[in-house]
Amino acid sequence: MNSLFRADNAPPPSRFNRRVSVCAEAFNPDEDEEDSEPRVVHPKTDEQRCRLQESCRDILLFKTLDQEQFSEVLDAMFELLVQPLEHVIDQGDDGDNFYVIERGVYDIVVMGVTVGQYDNKGSFGELALMYNTPRAATIVATQEGALWGLDRATFRRLIVKNNYKKRRMYETFIESVPLLKSLEANERMKIVDVLGSKQFPDGERIITQGEKAECFFIVESGEVKIMIKSKTKAGHADNAEVEITRCSRGHYFGELALVTNKPRAASAYAVGDVKCVVIDVQAFERLLGSCKEIMKRNIAHYEEQLVALFGSSMDLRD
Ligand code: CMP
Ligand code: CMP
Repeated sequence: MNSLFRADNAPPPSRFNRRVSVCAEAFNPDEDEEDSEPRVVHPKTDEQRCRLQESCRDILLFKTLDQEQFSEVLDAMFELLVQPLEHVIDQGDDGDNFYVIERGVYDIVVMGVTVGQYDNKGSFGELALMYNTPRAATIVATQEGALWGLDRATFRRLIVKNNYKKRRMYETFIESVPLLKSLEANERMKIVDVLGSKQFPDGERIITQGEKAECFFIVESGEVKIMIKSKTKAGHADNAEVEITRCSRGHYFGELALVTNKPRAASAYAVGDVKCVVIDVQAFERLLGSCKEIMKRNIAHYEEQLVALFGSSMDLRD
């Protein structure tokens, strides 16, 4: 981490902000001492702010902030450049910053084993800051890259406080989702802490068949239509999309590609205005591992639907 350098040549805040000890501090943002800390502002050029805004556009943890909070977050972020093989985070360390990726590919290593990768998008480093635990993974840059850092105090003041509100908003909904019934209450809470919420207007495509998968969805309100283009054109000469099913409140979709490591098997569209809970692939792997068996069992049901529609089930499994 020491070899990381700030794009504005100032030393990374981590060198100064480092916490000396790691303790399992209780989660109570209403009593957070950091509320009184001064607001952090790292001045940026218009060009930097544009790049920062673009990098933060799809960051799920920012999705439930109001405009004022989001703008405070952007003000506090600082640019970091990384070199190939640099460790941005080392497992076991104290948490200093949260990071948003502008560019670069980063391996996620747990106990020496690579368990995943961030490919030019996403964010990491939220867990140690949210729960005051040691870093749960090592993050290694595989190539030259650029990151935006957010200091621990600002992260806790804005994101962790907001999570307290999120817990109140989503606790009952998440408890009602049939897929998540088998999880412990604290596991469901961890899902609430990292979820984002996205709205889609009528007709908008939420998932595109054939694309790489980055997240998983649960319908919060409205209806989602799943459409598929058959690879075998028999009976569908123009290869038009055919509706397979609809998902409503509490139903999930977009899990198949994450479970099979394949491209999206179908497309999903909003029918009327739709709101979905969105969970990124890394959180899905970390928090929904034990639900994968239920999801895998559902593949047989998908195959039956496809046989009924097209006469063959296509290649859904790995
Ligand atoms: P943190 O523990 O602060 O630092 C390491 C980060 O790696 C962690 O936050 C998450 O953001 C990220 N991460 C991605 N996948 C995993 C995983 N499977 N286990 C632990 N951390 C992970
Ligand atoms: P995924 O392949 O990630 O993206 C498209 C989603 O459509 C898929 O996950 C499933 O969640 C959903 N889906 C619903 N019915 C089917 C089906 N019969 N075949 C494939 N996908 C389906």
